[in-house]
Amino acid sequence: VRLGPDGTSLIILDQTALPDRVEERTLTTVEEIEEAIRSLRVRGAPLIGIAAALGVAAITRRAAAATEDASLPLAERVTDWCRRLSGARPTGANLAWAMARLERAVREREAAPPGELAELVAAEARAIHEEDRAMCRRIGEYALELLPDARPFEILTHCNAGALATGGIGTALAPVYLAHEAGRAVHVFADETRPLLQGSRLTAWELRRSGVEVTVLTDGMAGALMASSRVPDAVLVGADRIAANGDVANKVGTYGLAVLAAHHGVPFYVLAPSTTVDLDTPRGEDIPIELRDPSEVTEGFGRTTAPRDVDVWSPAFDVTPAALVGAIVTERGIHRPPYGDTLREAMLGAGGTTGVTTGEPRGRDP
Ligand code: MRU
Repeated sequence: VRLGPDGTSLIILDQTALPDRVEERTLTTVEEIEEAIRSLRVRGAPLIGIAAALGVAAITRRAAAATEDASLPLAERVTDWCRRLSGARPTGANLAWAMARLERAVREREAAPPGELAELVAAEARAIHEEDRAMCRRIGEYALELLPDARPFEILTHCNAGALATGGIGTALAPVYLAHEAGRAVHVFADETRPLLQGSRLTAWELRRSGVEVTVLTDGMAGALMASSRVPDAVLVGADRIAANGDVANKVGTYGLAVLAAHHGVPFYVLAPSTTVDLDTPRGEDIPIELRDPSEVTEGFGRTTAPRDVDVWSPAFDVTPAALVGAIVTERGIHRPPYGDTLREAMLGAGGTTGVTTGEPRGRDP
């Protein structure tokens, strides 16, 4: 995602068109931005926050340059846009976090002239983008400490927690890209990820584009893979929201993978920026889970895939209990259970500059 040439539009890569077509869209209104988020044209918890922030920056500039008299002061309109976009997807923490950050920035300077206010919003949005880019790399560096370093490694991932979902090289895929960059052999098993196929459409697309070896399997095949001789070295997933106790909401299907990984003794790690950690949400059961339209299940492949009018239950995310999560990796370090203590300390501690926020000594898993 990026701002258009004069900073008054938001340009997105329309992820619903991938992998067939690489199509960009230019968005200039809050309605268009909201639609793009709801329909998953832009998706992935960190990217949704970034896109919404840049989007608000674009429409604020547009409004500041408009000659007609608006009935509301610009600062109030920015607040309205932020609140509206904040609710576009309820599960991910990053969207609400980014919108609250813009709102705060504007509130502190609400009397500033429109042009100045617009520049302030744009600077804040750019900072959100840049910070996410940097966090991705740090997450990748920490996560590499958990993976074999003397031989090629294979990981299994779910959904898309790569470059397409963030402002940088991704979260779950960050160690993969760093290893690949360093010339190491690395291989990714990508779950297809029903019903919207973020794994096969997006993860496979971006990894192949970068020259990383990838194998796609449908979601139901993960158990067979773990029971086979090609058991992955680790399961690496991203997160949409991490509760204060370490429960993790991520794309539906993640919980099942965590159970499988525990059964087969495969390390299960969650990689996410600190902006995904929500200390105000005590437990997983407090995380609002978005329900998707039944048609995504019944007409998923451009044809009818279930009897007409059949009852469908389609949560977009599930919650993996903290007990199944071997480590949570953020840009602040590798956090180990008990997460209630280690996450709080890492998030509220001295800025996390040391990166050591674990409940036990850091080190490589056996
Ligand atoms: O519905 P989506 O495609 O937005 O869901 C995305 C996920 O569940 C990702 O795993 C998560 O946002 C982490 S992305 C770094």
